[in-house]
Amino acid sequence: MKIIKSIAEMQNWAARARRQGYSIGFVPTMGALHQGHLSLIRRARRENDAVIASLFVNPLQFGPKEDLKKYPRTLAKDLALLKKERADIVFVPSAEAMYGSGYTTTIRVPSLDGILEGATRPGHFEGVATVVAKLFHIVQPTRAYFGQKDYQQVRVIGRLIKDLNLPIRLVACPTIREADGLACSSRNRYLSAREREEAVKLYQALFLGRELVSEKIMTTAAQLVARLHQIFSRIPKCKVDYLAVADPETLEPMKKIRRPALLLAAVRIGKTRLIDNIVIP
Ligand code: PAJ
Repeated sequence: MKIIKSIAEMQNWAARARRQGYSIGFVPTMGALHQGHLSLIRRARRENDAVIASLFVNPLQFGPKEDLKKYPRTLAKDLALLKKERADIVFVPSAEAMYGSGYTTTIRVPSLDGILEGATRPGHFEGVATVVAKLFHIVQPTRAYFGQKDYQQVRVIGRLIKDLNLPIRLVACPTIREADGLACSSRNRYLSAREREEAVKLYQALFLGRELVSEKIMTTAAQLVARLHQIFSRIPKCKVDYLAVADPETLEPMKKIRRPALLLAAVRIGKTRLIDNIVIP
């Protein structure tokens, strides 16, 4: 496994691989790797000749009051995990290399970046779209792997690939969960033992929501959202950022629930912000 820090070197390596006819699977991450990330690497390994992972905590996608400074950085452990999964290249650019002096260009996907996550995190998806577009240009992968845990992010990237005619296949991968159902996340490590116990209720609430809709006990988003709000109101120090039923394709809010539907939530437990979603088929 080779670690590459320089953008030029990464471009050269990828260009050479493509000239030799290798397919390239690319997994962009911000590090602090867990089983969710590793599932993407494994899938990329199965489906491509070469696997490139990137580790870059992208400052552009964090708001001024968000956790950029304290975001977990576990480089040595990440490299050991990637080696074990047989990644070929780990691309670790510096913020200076990515956004050097005079940097100004950004990419926006306006139809998707102001709703749900975008409404509570202004500028977030502009930061994501910009860094992913840059990484795509540097790596020029055959396939790019993203997790459904960040459902809206997958939609934003899908739109970007289409609109900019990028010759990249987007592969959306299922959410990997802890044994009790909590979605794996780099931010889970912020939770205290007590908060970790409460955090599973996010998944339980979404699971219950799916049951209530599948069993036709609830048919409108208003009913369902009110019911799930009750669950969160009983968790100490819990604040709901949003709880929504949306069309899984367009992410437009649904009033009367048609299926398939997507149930999404973002909650803060203490200082930790967690997101999750579930598809109601
Ligand atoms: P990060 O949060 O590190 O996630 C990297 C990738 O892992 C994303 O595609 C994310 O959806 C996926 N992932 C995270 N948790 C997962 C889980 N429990 N199951 C399955 N996949 C999971 O998402 C980002 O980084 C950044 O926004 C990035 C795309 C790298 C741009 O900076």
